[in-house]
Amino acid sequence: MAIRRVLAFAAVLLAREVCAQNLTQDQLNAVKDRLAESAKQSWELGTRAQALTELDTPSFSVLTVNADVPPSTSAPDSLNEVLDIAKNAVSTRPTSLSGPQPLFANSAAGDPPSVGVSVLIANWTGRGQQDSLDYAGAAKDQLEFLFNSVPHTDDGAISHRVEKLQLWSDFVAMVPPFLAYYGVVTANQSLVEEGYKQIKLYRSYLQDTSARGLWHHIVMGNNGTDPGHWSTGNAWAAIGILRVLGTIQRSQFSNQMKNEKKDLINWASEIHSGMYAHLRSSGLFGNYVDDDSTFDDGSSTALLASSVYRLALFANVHTFVPMAEQSRQALFATADPSSNNGSSLVHFSSDGWLTPVVNPENVGKEGSHSPEGQAFVVQLDAAYRDWLDAGSPGKNAASHPGADLTRWWVILLAILTGTALL
Ligand SMILES: *[C@@H]1O[C@H](CO)[C@@H](O)[C@H](O)[C@H]1NC(C)=O
Ligand SMILES: *[C@@H]1O[C@H](CO)[C@@H](O)[C@H](O)[C@H]1NC(C)=O
Ligand SMILES: *[C@@H]1O[C@H](CO)[C@@H](O)[C@H](O)[C@H]1NC(C)=O
Ligand SMILES: *[C@@H]1O[C@H](CO)[C@@H](O)[C@H](O)[C@H]1NC(C)=O
Ligand SMILES: *[C@@H]1O[C@H](CO)[C@@H](O)[C@H](O)[C@H]1NC(C)=O
Repeated sequence: MAIRRVLAFAAVLLAREVCAQNLTQDQLNAVKDRLAESAKQSWELGTRAQALTELDTPSFSVLTVNADVPPSTSAPDSLNEVLDIAKNAVSTRPTSLSGPQPLFANSAAGDPPSVGVSVLIANWTGRGQQDSLDYAGAAKDQLEFLFNSVPHTDDGAISHRVEKLQLWSDFVAMVPPFLAYYGVVTANQSLVEEGYKQIKLYRSYLQDTSARGLWHHIVMGNNGTDPGHWSTGNAWAAIGILRVLGTIQRSQFSNQMKNEKKDLINWASEIHSGMYAHLRSSGLFGNYVDDDSTFDDGSSTALLASSVYRLALFANVHTFVPMAEQSRQALFATADPSSNNGSSLVHFSSDGWLTPVVNPENVGKEGSHSPEGQAFVVQLDAAYRDWLDAGSPGKNAASHPGADLTRWWVILLAILTGTALL
């Protein structure tokens, strides 16, 4: 009898511990509103498009396990905001130009293609028949610009910059997913292979084998390099790898590309392994993950955690799920656990800005408002939702002694408290 009461009490406490709150609909809407207002740069718009697809129209997102790639239905209304991003990009291209050109002028080579998947979806779902814009032509111009007008390394890695040959980890989230999706919608396997190959090449240049496989941020080019292990750059690489994996997985080429899929799973896992070795007790990563002097950064923490849930769903790799859970619970924590009313989130301002965050335009400095960070929160929320819906695979993967210890403390506390109540 007494034992039963103690156990019941322990169960209640445990349930409370593992059911840490997620964002309420109001909180999530505030995050999305700040994202909509602030996303201006090409990569911010591309990242917003991807985040909204994951959250609002998962069947069109290559990060969904059973995604429809390429889509077999017309675009639902939930995709309107995403297709508007594509429309704005395509309709503001300089009309005087024809032939190879980026989707946005005055940008790095690698950033404008981040909007490319939305442009391909707009074409595929027949938007051009409604608004007379040439989405297929714009996508083709962007593709040819990357191949013909941007510098390459001798072995074929496409530069992230136009004016010089320079490789940035950010590129992996912007360009390979576009190449792979382009290959699927045009039934061109060599383009899908090209998406994989760019990741393979970037990994060969950026991975630091003397630092547990963490990726450098920027290499080559005579100035502006950044050999540090920038956390957001590692998270960009991981999510780009998984988007290419998801694209291949759902495509007509899936069976022919088993080895590529295996590599991609391993390469994402390597980044997780390198990064989570440095997760701070705050549940966040430092801005440069292995530099203790750098500030906590919510942006990279959110994006990388989302990639852990995605990898768990794609490939049953559960090793870092408990640590992603730790990060998510930290990011979505409320100051007063008994109230979850929006004003008391520890890592968000009252109007929905994630904090603390790196300044995306000056990556050594802490910023106040990060458009990409807002998108990463949306991606985290969507990935967590999908992972919950799939039955939380790997929730109890015992990779993280800290989590186990917490659980034991809760049980001990429950027994002591429960005993006192008897
Ligand atoms: C938490 O997420 C789940 C799954 O998306 C959802 O059903 C639930 O309503 C969310 N809870 C809150 C408080 O938003
Ligand atoms: C555009 O969409 C059509 C199907 O509507 C498809 O056949 C074509 O390959 C697409 N072009 C590009 C560049 O995606
Ligand atoms: C596939 O795409 C590449 C790159 O655009 C192109 O060179 C090649 O001709 C395409 N192959 C087919 C079969 O269309
Ligand atoms: C760095 O490179 C850019 C071109 O990429 C050039 O405009 C700038 O002058 C260079 N700065 C220095 C200090 O060399
Ligand atoms: C939300 O909770 C805080 C305390 O955590 C409280 O001060 C505030 O009045 C609450 N707001 C609403 C709208 O309930």
